Amino acid sequence: MIEPKHFNVPILLLALSSLVSCNNSNSNITSTSDAQLKQVIASRGLTGNPITTNTPSISSKEAQLGMELFYSKSLGGDRDSACVTCHHPTLGGGDNLTLPIGTEAETPDLLGPGRVQLQSGTNYDAGPTVPRNAPTTFNLAAWKKALFHDGRVESLGASGIRTPDSAFGTVDAKGGENLAQAQARFPVTSPEEMKAFNNNDKDNQQMRDFLAQRLGGYGAGAGVLQDTDFWLNKFRTVFNSPSGSASELITEQNISFLIGEFERSQVFVDTPWKSYVDGDTTAISEDAKKGALLFFSTKEDGGANCSSCHSGDFFTDEAYHNLAMPQIGRGKGDGNDGSNDFGRFRETKQESDKFAFRTPTLTNVEVTGPWTHAGSYTSLSNVIKHHLDPQSAIDNYDINQLTQQGIQTGNMQANTQLAIDSANFESIDTTLTDTQVGYLVTFLKTLTDPCVKDRQCLSSWILDPEVNNDPNGDQLNAVDINNTTL
Ligand code: HEC
Ligand code: HEC
Repeated sequence: MIEPKHFNVPILLLALSSLVSCNNSNSNITSTSDAQLKQVIASRGLTGNPITTNTPSISSKEAQLGMELFYSKSLGGDRDSACVTCHHPTLGGGDNLTLPIGTEAETPDLLGPGRVQLQSGTNYDAGPTVPRNAPTTFNLAAWKKALFHDGRVESLGASGIRTPDSAFGTVDAKGGENLAQAQARFPVTSPEEMKAFNNNDKDNQQMRDFLAQRLGGYGAGAGVLQDTDFWLNKFRTVFNSPSGSASELITEQNISFLIGEFERSQVFVDTPWKSYVDGDTTAISEDAKKGALLFFSTKEDGGANCSSCHSGDFFTDEAYHNLAMPQIGRGKGDGNDGSNDFGRFRETKQESDKFAFRTPTLTNVEVTGPWTHAGSYTSLSNVIKHHLDPQSAIDNYDINQLTQQGIQTGNMQANTQLAIDSANFESIDTTLTDTQVGYLVTFLKTLTDPCVKDRQCLSSWILDPEVNNDPNGDQLNAVDINNTTL
């Protein structure tokens, strides 16, 4: 890994020569990077569009009812947490926090910065309660292999989907139709996310069934909601079953399917980079083109080879790598005191997977911070610099970049050093100037669909707080710390 950087290949020389000259009107330079990029795009077969499956429209009745469920605290064990708590469209499809707080928040409808746990909450320590960063739900339909940072919901091909409810490598018969549905069955089984601690007498399936019964007013869950016709009428319409009963229609399988359809409708791929790939050479700036060349070029060619892992149109190989990102937060219960997170190893039990996490997508990455599996970096340049020299990034890690209150950082050095010292540790081990890191950041920002920065454009995916028609009062009306509607 310790090869020196070579400057003997034309791609880099051309990229560098364009750095030296700051003259944007020099059309030769433009055409040079365009020519190089054209070759990169052709040789990798890039189209600019990561979504290759059919996705539902947000106006479909399935996605519409899925949205109502996504925004409903009725699916929280204590009716104080919903999917949207950690996956709000105006927060990049995440929560804008390093690490989430789900159940037992001081103000359940306050999302993002300022969300804190109730002091009387379970295991209160003034910090976040969920051990990993909430990834975006944007473009969920583009994932082909696996969901979660450790891929514990994963496709086994035509045979089905493996989930935490089935042994590693075996199909979960209730996994559902697609990865989105399979995943949507799990947040309600996590006490910190949605289940709440006083439901710990129920196993995963009992909890899902209980929640379905609560919405439908049947079985053991009956009686919790005053008005269950509210949900029954909607399920009857969506499933074209005017006289279907609640126990037939309001099932955990139908609930997870509908939520998955809402997520799969979140397609945000109209990026400047896509326009560029489509042939509009003016769609991205000269600096972004320099960044793109660094991103796609190998080390031999003077690049950073980012695309060896962040490959394809979705900028991920959907594989697992140990980059020793700072391990902060409560941890997943691994290591001597439980504050570590062994990542993919937790699933496969293979040493070669220890501390390895799924390569994240970079589509819309500009709006999905804080970044890494533990949300430990709050700027894109810091994440990139970590890739280049993890040891120095860990030694000089600045906890002041974390603005969220109470983040557990006490074991960061020791836990992360174990990852660096692990045999499967990978780093790019390349020196880039700050200017070059800046070009990479500029390139990454061309992967942003403008819609995700525009509340008006996102409004189709936001359940209108003005039209709160849930008579049970469970709709989450998201506000920020200033009490402004999100
Ligand atoms: C308290 C915050 C919280 C709540 C509530 C929550 N999530 Fe998440 N979500 C997370 C975190 C954290 C992860 C990553 C966990 C991991 O990888 O181990 C995640 C992962 C996901 C993923 C995987 C994305 C990917 O790129 O792999 C999807 C999809 C998702 N959540 C959807 C949902 C849905 C649907 C609900 C409601 C049923 C929900 N979430 C409720 C925090 C939350
Ligand atoms: C060896 C594989 C590999 C290479 C090469 C690589 N990355 Fe990564 N990258 C990852 C993995 C894995 C993560 C997530 C690690 C974690 O969460 O612990 C990541 C995280 C990121 C993130 C944070 C994304 C998020 O949502 O949290 C960014 C941004 C990023 N990489 C950009 C780059 C850039 C730019 C380059 C080239 C300089 C690069 N990566 C090279 C594997 C790689």
